[in-house]
Amino acid sequence: MKLEGKVALITGSAQGIGRAIALRLAREGADIVVDDRADDSRAESTLAEVQALGRRGCVVSGDLGTVADDRRVVADAVAKMGRLDILVNNGGVEKNASFLEVTEQDYELVLNVNLRGAFFTSQAFAQHLQQTRRPGRIINISSVHEELPFPHFSPYCASKGGLKMLMRNLAIELAPLGITVNNVAPGAIATPINRPAWETPEALESLLKLIPYKRVGQAIDIGKAAVWLASDDSDYVNGQTLFVDGGMTLFPEFADGG
Ligand SMILES: NC(=O)c1ccc[n+]([C@@H]2O[C@H](COP(=O)([O-])OP(=O)(O)OC[C@H]3O[C@@H](n4cnc5c(N)ncnc54)[C@H](O)[C@@H]3O)[C@@H](O)[C@H]2O)c1
Repeated sequence: MKLEGKVALITGSAQGIGRAIALRLAREGADIVVDDRADDSRAESTLAEVQALGRRGCVVSGDLGTVADDRRVVADAVAKMGRLDILVNNGGVEKNASFLEVTEQDYELVLNVNLRGAFFTSQAFAQHLQQTRRPGRIINISSVHEELPFPHFSPYCASKGGLKMLMRNLAIELAPLGITVNNVAPGAIATPINRPAWETPEALESLLKLIPYKRVGQAIDIGKAAVWLASDDSDYVNGQTLFVDGGMTLFPEFADGG
């Protein structure tokens, strides 16, 4: 097992990609802090699956878009588990609207959850590692849209592009503390966030045209990549984006992912 003795906090891990990452890290021996919005019973079911794998764990909750919650979530995780070694910034949202129609409310929601949440959760996590003089790992789940344009999802692209530069900056600033920072950029992964893109045969057919490998990704594909970036196998990898997209990013034209 590659992660025995480590404690990992995964934001947005009640369902989808975050849940798959939590379970895959647990399978490799990590103890798991499941984090999602308040009063989410799905978080308890992720935790039950972690425990069924023989790992310890707990649930914490908060609104990722609120800085006070981001700091409290890290503090609660440390209080419950004793310490943290790995942070996966996964929780995210998207809103579909043409640029001319994006509301201030939707802009703020997407930027606050996807970018500000990762920013201040990472800050609290890095402060914890600095105070306890221990190394660690930060893994951001960004998107192929940290690179590829995605018309009608401008706030989402701005948040994921921002996450790319945040990751590169932190990789330099936190390296002296023994903390590496990397992104995983999923392509089209079948989860509730992008259900319209894959749930009908017609939608699936047009989606597959954009994926050279000719299959839609599964959450477990991202879980496996996260294990690698969290483990000693990737110890010398810092400041990079790992695209897990079946080759979607290689298409120069518009790609429809999530
Ligand atoms: N599914 C894809 O194809 C795809 C592609 C590229 C990137 N991603 C990214 O992967 C990450 C996970 O996406 P997913 O597909 O599993 O989506 P999902 O909607 O299934 O899961 C997202 C999770 O984040 C949580 N969340 C949302 N807002 C929150 C908030 N304010 N506070 C706390 N938790 C909050 C949700 O409750 C949910 O459990 C996101 O950052 C997304 O942008 C997904």
